[in-house]
Amino acid sequence: MSYSNRHTIAPVATAQPTAAPTPFLAPQDTLRAAPITAPVLDSVTDLIGNTPLVELRHLAAGLPGRVFAKLESRNPGGSAKDRVALNIIRTAEANGDLAPGATIVESTSGNTGIGLALVGQLTGHPVVIVHGATISAEKRAILLAYGARLVEADWDAAPNDPSNARAVADRIASEIPGAWRSSQFKNAANPRAHYTSTGPEIWKQTEGTVTHFVASIGTGGTVTGTGRFLKDASNGAVKVIGVDPTGSTYGGNLPGTILVDGVGTNWPRANWPDIFDPTVTDEIRIVEDRVVYHTVRQLALREALLLGPSSGLAISVALDLAATVEPGSVIVVVSPDGGGNYLSKAFNPEWLDSEGLGIDPTSTGPTSTNTPSTDGTRN
Ligand SMILES: Cc1ncc(COP(=O)(O)O)c(C=O)c1O
Repeated sequence: MSYSNRHTIAPVATAQPTAAPTPFLAPQDTLRAAPITAPVLDSVTDLIGNTPLVELRHLAAGLPGRVFAKLESRNPGGSAKDRVALNIIRTAEANGDLAPGATIVESTSGNTGIGLALVGQLTGHPVVIVHGATISAEKRAILLAYGARLVEADWDAAPNDPSNARAVADRIASEIPGAWRSSQFKNAANPRAHYTSTGPEIWKQTEGTVTHFVASIGTGGTVTGTGRFLKDASNGAVKVIGVDPTGSTYGGNLPGTILVDGVGTNWPRANWPDIFDPTVTDEIRIVEDRVVYHTVRQLALREALLLGPSSGLAISVALDLAATVEPGSVIVVVSPDGGGNYLSKAFNPEWLDSEGLGIDPTSTGPTSTNTPSTDGTRN
């Protein structure tokens, strides 16, 4: 078959309009052979980071401070933990801790697992995730879809209890030849991911005007890494506020039931994650569960932002702060993930009722009836 005439046909889509078409190629081959100069990505991992800041113009309307939410749901795996997973895997590969093709084992409430499963798949590492019983059905399904192997364990068991999630992950890692424990709770690459990406992004996006940084605390990686960067960049001027749900000991509460996914700890201070540096925080505020879930709903109804419960937790504090700070203060709050993974919980009236949260799903009233607390309690 001759293509002698085909090369004279004008290319349909030319990346380089001035380049002469290659002779004797079918049009589709011409298109395939042409170098693409438009911005395309090599890999999904190129989508990690550089998340947007969105001002909460409705919920913070009329308040002296401005509130900007950093939307980590825009990462490809849907949370801030994509940054951590990428940095943990890159660092371990570079150090020689993670051999080519070796299995990664992690205990996680979900998001780190999703990040590891995503990056692990692209870098050739199988991933085993040990999770607690309260992981949302949506996150479980996503982990399975990315090809992770799932193991359920007791998230709240004492650290020395063999059924404890971290102990189970340690055991599994010791049983799989060559397997490596990524250990997000003690791996310095976790806060480092935030020191080198989340922090600089916020500094650049606010043109150095950020005055307050607000973040929830799970492993403590976000608040430690981002908070430390912002303190360093501002010569200590930026105030760093950690946020804790009821039932968690970070804010000084007694251990109890934690109803906010991915944050808080039941363990005493001696067992807090190694990578969490409480000295980075100027204060840690506590938010009641009903305020968390009310705020999540308000964000969806009034800002059109469908965000997860830990976003409601941190944003309720950012809004409280905005009411009391100097006019023009710039408050940046991390929204760790989106609400789609919690439709069966945070946006399900039956689940809310079953937890006694008594939320009116149609309410569009004020976001927070809390007054800023100094003693860790909220009304
Ligand atoms: C939904 C969610 N929010 C907040 C956090 C807390 O982030 P960090 O572990 O960096 O403290 C996590 C951590 O897993 C999370 O999954």
